[in-house]
Amino acid sequence: MLNVILLGTGNLARHLFEAFSQSEEVKIVQVVGRNLNDLAWFSHHTAVSNDFSEIFDADVYLIAVKDDAIGEVSNHLSDKNGVVAHTSGAMEMDVIQSERKGVFYPLQTFSKGKKVDFNSIPICIEASDGEVLLLLKKLAVCISENLHVIDSDQRKKLHLAAVFVNNFTNYLYGIGEEICLEEGLSFDLLKPLILETAEKIQGISPKEAQTGPARRNDEKSMQNHLKLLTNEDNIALYTLLSEAIKNVYEKEL
Ligand SMILES: NC(=O)c1ccc[n+]([C@@H]2O[C@H](COP(=O)([O-])OP(=O)(O)OC[C@H]3O[C@@H](n4cnc5c(N)ncnc54)[C@H](OP(=O)(O)O)[C@@H]3O)[C@@H](O)[C@H]2O)c1
Repeated sequence: MLNVILLGTGNLARHLFEAFSQSEEVKIVQVVGRNLNDLAWFSHHTAVSNDFSEIFDADVYLIAVKDDAIGEVSNHLSDKNGVVAHTSGAMEMDVIQSERKGVFYPLQTFSKGKKVDFNSIPICIEASDGEVLLLLKKLAVCISENLHVIDSDQRKKLHLAAVFVNNFTNYLYGIGEEICLEEGLSFDLLKPLILETAEKIQGISPKEAQTGPARRNDEKSMQNHLKLLTNEDNIALYTLLSEAIKNVYEKEL
């Protein structure tokens, strides 16, 4: 049995808590965070504390706080013998001061209240030494069958790629929703298209899958679109993305 302490009470902490709660090999012995309301969500099932000087002993400390606070939170664990790991895609492992340290990065988008199937989520692991690596692998297999050992440079690039395919795409969904609502149309009309876009690239590469006026260089359609936009940011985004697509495909036309 691995004793684990979660530091942080946000989106990822909740999902990790739920996933580890399904495993008989892991016991979450404490959740530590600064927000009492959020701690209440965990308190029916485990010990909680909002005092970072009262952290129990454990085999693994998983830090799931805002990226910029990881170093500060890890300082509270400098006298602990257990492994200290953060869960961020964007931060190097060495932001943690402890000797036995690592990274436990689940590559998925997590929001409170939206269930995910952890079993297929890639968990990207990095460790300060072989013994820590074994321990983090042992922890990861309790919730996922999809483990990858990668270093900080690789993980930062992977996270950058994830920002493009998830964060930016989701922002563009938001623009699509706004444009629909301006005309009294339901965003639901676009959902089959969104699903097919994600489904299609399971079988062919995104470069092959690209369609649309910019790929065909349909100038009039693009000019018409620009006339319909009023928001300056959206005009700039439309222009920049269309130019980028044109640059890739114009040689084929
Ligand atoms: N959400 C995802 O999709 C996802 C996916 C993979 C990895 N991650 C990683 O998981 C970590 C947490 O992300 P999240 O999405 O769960 O964030 P979140 O929902 O915004 O929660 C952030 C947590 O950090 C705490 N926090 C912020 N500043 C702090 C400080 N100075 N001291 C102590 N605690 C502090 C917050 O406490 P308060 O509530 O008191 O502010 C909250 O508990 C990040 O490293 C992120 O890169 C997230």
